[in-house]
Amino acid sequence: TRLGIIGVPFAKGQGKQGVELAPDLLRESNLRQVLQSSDERLLITDYGNLHYAVDESLLQQQRQHYYHIRNYADFMACNLALIEQVQVMLQQNAQFLTIGGDHAIGFGSVAGHLQHTPNLSLVWIDAHADINLHNTSQSGNIHGMPVSFLLRELRNTWQHAALDKVAPNCLSKDQLVYIGLRDIDPYEAFILNKFGIRYYAMDSIDRMGVPKVIEMTLDALDTQNKIHVSFDIDALDSNVAPCTGTAVRAGLTLREGISIVEALRDTKRVQGMDIVEINPKLGTPQDVRTTVDSALEILKSMFGYRRSGARHYSNLDT
Ligand code: ARG
Ligand code: MN
Ligand code: MN
Ligand code: MN
Repeated sequence: TRLGIIGVPFAKGQGKQGVELAPDLLRESNLRQVLQSSDERLLITDYGNLHYAVDESLLQQQRQHYYHIRNYADFMACNLALIEQVQVMLQQNAQFLTIGGDHAIGFGSVAGHLQHTPNLSLVWIDAHADINLHNTSQSGNIHGMPVSFLLRELRNTWQHAALDKVAPNCLSKDQLVYIGLRDIDPYEAFILNKFGIRYYAMDSIDRMGVPKVIEMTLDALDTQNKIHVSFDIDALDSNVAPCTGTAVRAGLTLREGISIVEALRDTKRVQGMDIVEINPKLGTPQDVRTTVDSALEILKSMFGYRRSGARHYSNLDT
C-alpha cells in the first residue's frame, strides 16, 4: 500500500520557534526505516518539505480583516499550498501523512483531504479543541483555530477568507470527534456545546476507558466515510511527550495513544493522518528523544507495526 509523506515546517501558528524542525528531525530519526521495517509492503514516497509564497491579496486580507490575530497571511498561504499537495498525494497514494509544524496546518491537511474525498470523518486527538474563532481567541495564535475553518457550521465566521473558493468542501459537525481534551477555552466550550460537537475529554477516558470511547467514536462516524486522524503530540502526557509548545499535564499514556490509533487503523478507513506540535527546541536532549520516540510509536501503530504481531495487515486492504 502506498503512503505519501509531506513535511510542513510551519511555526507561525503559535509563538515558539522549533516546531518547524520536526519534519527533518523525524526523518533523521529514521521514520521511513521504522515504518518500512514494520510493514515491508508499504511503498513510501517522501515529498519533502512544503514551500509556500505569500501573495499581496492575502496580506491585504490580513491588514483589513485579520490584523488582530497573528500571521493570518502566512497561515493561509501555507495551507493553500498544503491543500494542493494533499490532493496530489492522494492521486498517487492510498494514504498520506502530514508532519508539522504546529497545528495550524491541520486546516490545509484536512481541507485538502476533503477536496479529494468529500465524505470524510475527522478524529482530532489533542489536549486542546483548536476551535477558536478570530474573535474568541485569547492568544491570537492560529494553531488554536484550525477546526473552525473546516466545519460547515462555523466557517461563515471567516467571511473574509474566501473559504468557498479555497476549500469548498467542508466537514459537518457530526463527522468530527475529539479525543483527549483537557484544556478547553471558555468560548470553545460554548461552541462545542452550542453545536453539540462530540468530544471525549480526559475525564471521559477516566470513566469509560479507551475501548468504550473508541466504540462510541466509531458509532458516531459514518461507516461509509474515510477517516482523517489529526494527532497533536500534546494529547499525550508530558512524561512521554515533553517537547511541545502548549503542554498540559495529565494526558494520555503512550499505551492509550497507541490503543486509540490501533483501533482507528483497524477500521481500514484511515486515509490521512497528521502528527503535529513536536518542538525539539523545548526541553533537554533526553526530552527530545523521548518525544520523538513516542511520535514514532504512534506512527508505527498507524502505518506498520502491530503489537499483536499481525504484521501483514495494513490499513486499506486485508
Ligand atoms: N486554546 C489555546 C489557544 O487558542 C491553546 C491552543 C493550543 N493549540 C495547539 N494546537 N497546541 O491559544
Ligand atoms: Mn486516491
Ligand atoms: Mn492542537
Ligand atoms: Mn494541543
